[in-house]
Amino acid sequence: MWGNPVPRSCCKRLCCNLKAENLTVRYDDAVCALRDVGFSVRDGERVALIGANGAGKSTLLLTLVGVLPAESGEISLEDVPVGKETLREFRRRVGMVFQNPDDQLFMPTVYEDIAFGPRNYGLSEEEIETRINGVLDRFGIARLRDRMTHKLSGGEKRLVALAGILVMEPSVLLMDEPSSFLDPRSRRKLIETLDKLPQTMLIATHDLDLALDLCRRAILLDEGRVRADAPIEEILSDAALLESCGLELPLSTGHLR
Ligand SMILES: Nc1ncnc2c1ncn2[C@@H]1O[C@H](COP(=O)(O)OP(=O)(O)O)[C@@H](O)[C@H]1O
Ligand SMILES: [Mg+2]
Repeated sequence: MWGNPVPRSCCKRLCCNLKAENLTVRYDDAVCALRDVGFSVRDGERVALIGANGAGKSTLLLTLVGVLPAESGEISLEDVPVGKETLREFRRRVGMVFQNPDDQLFMPTVYEDIAFGPRNYGLSEEEIETRINGVLDRFGIARLRDRMTHKLSGGEKRLVALAGILVMEPSVLLMDEPSSFLDPRSRRKLIETLDKLPQTMLIATHDLDLALDLCRRAILLDEGRVRADAPIEEILSDAALLESCGLELPLSTGHLR
């Protein structure tokens, strides 16, 4: 089984091997959203999960955290398969930030919201307060601690939602379209914040410039299948491949061509 959480300074041990094999997912109405998807994310890697609308990015992330059941296939973390007995611990170690922070924030205040996860896992109030203050400081949002969550700006909500996941000290972060709903300044701040984190990351996005800023590798999904899994610069400079998957060359790849 997985080891205990490790100190944040021990970056190497935070890295985890997340693996998916032969994942096939079908919705109730028989839409086959993922077909035989396989990949692994290793050693503190940050991997961009890219693809046009409807390619299956959100479905893949939701399946990885057990929100959607897979018709077939296997998911494992450090070679431990995810199943009924391991799902709770897997969810503590693999944190997911949803596309819309309003789906994630549901307690009245920022503090209460971030405290929800750790309380659920039985941490002491003292430990919870120390962790929350730490995570708020790290994101430069200590001033938001006692604010009402529903009155925050889009960028603030996004950071609070991320803080609510990081307070659990996960090894792996899954993020669904982290830059959606953000103005350019909040987007830049988010990128800088993510760039400083040690966690292994799988970032679903059609913000190809963000992907290029944060990730060295990309997995390109098209109609529920993996079309490419390669260094991101290689994928993002292949105009024909991107076009055939309904994507365009990102603005910042000028230097790649
Ligand atoms: N709740 C749902 N019920 C039925 N089909 C869905 C549902 N959610 C997504 N889909 C379908 O599954 C496919 C993949 O969608 P999704 O994972 O949301 O793609 P992406 O996140 O890449 O835009 C699409 O064809 C979409 O229409
Ligand atoms: Mg999506």
